[in-house]
Amino acid sequence: MEVVILGSADEVARLAADRIAALVRRRPEAVLGLATGSSPTGIYAELARRTAAGELDMSGVRGFALDEYVGIPPAHPESYAAVIAREVVGPLGMSPDRVRVPDGRAADLEAAAEEYDRAIAAAGGIDLQLLGIGANGHIGFNEPTSSFASRTRIKTLAPRTRADNARFFASPDEVPTHCLTQGLGTILEARELLLVAQGEGKAEAVAAAVEGPLTSMCPGSALQLHRRAAVVVDGAAASALRLTDYYRHTYAHKPGWQRP
Ligand code: F6R
Repeated sequence: MEVVILGSADEVARLAADRIAALVRRRPEAVLGLATGSSPTGIYAELARRTAAGELDMSGVRGFALDEYVGIPPAHPESYAAVIAREVVGPLGMSPDRVRVPDGRAADLEAAAEEYDRAIAAAGGIDLQLLGIGANGHIGFNEPTSSFASRTRIKTLAPRTRADNARFFASPDEVPTHCLTQGLGTILEARELLLVAQGEGKAEAVAAAVEGPLTSMCPGSALQLHRRAAVVVDGAAASALRLTDYYRHTYAHKPGWQRP
């Protein structure tokens, strides 16, 4: 796993945007896994800036959102379908018909979840999966004790997650109780994982994911099983890591010939 500690949230956003832009230049029809929430917003803003400046063309890129709430209409401003349309597809000049979000309104949610995994496979799999991490260690909405083999499926949100996400809703009661999320097994099939985290509130989860034991109690620790995973964090999110000197030294001396 590559661990990159940067000076600010802006630097995290720029480095992650650099990596996504490099992939898109290599492969204009790349398939991206798209996280929502606060962590990637700076990355999307940076990619949008580069798109508006004519430096980047994401029109051929395909996308699969990580997750979606169950039971709120797609038009609700906090449905991930709405967030992806507003913060990603539009500003990045992506084609709406090339971007999928799990259907949290499907009459048969299990069938919708299975179809989502099939659609990812039919697209050739995800080239780069962008991830945030919950304060409880979740990635996607794979809450603690999620199976490392799990596929896209219905999950019950942990009370901590509902409390953390209440800031997006008018009242805590409005936060949905269930979601559809790519499974840990689904996420691990992406060819590359890029997890970003900012702020002290993520420090314990980042340390558990990177340096803790491989355990379903910290779903983020599944990254340890991936051959090509990068964790890009600011100093505050890195503050509970033990090997910070090693990570900083490794990144500062990374040879040009080593893969980004
Ligand atoms: C969002 C997602 C979640 C978030 C995590 C962190 O699609 O899958 O895992 O990445 O809850 O949320 P923020 O970034 O809002 O702190």
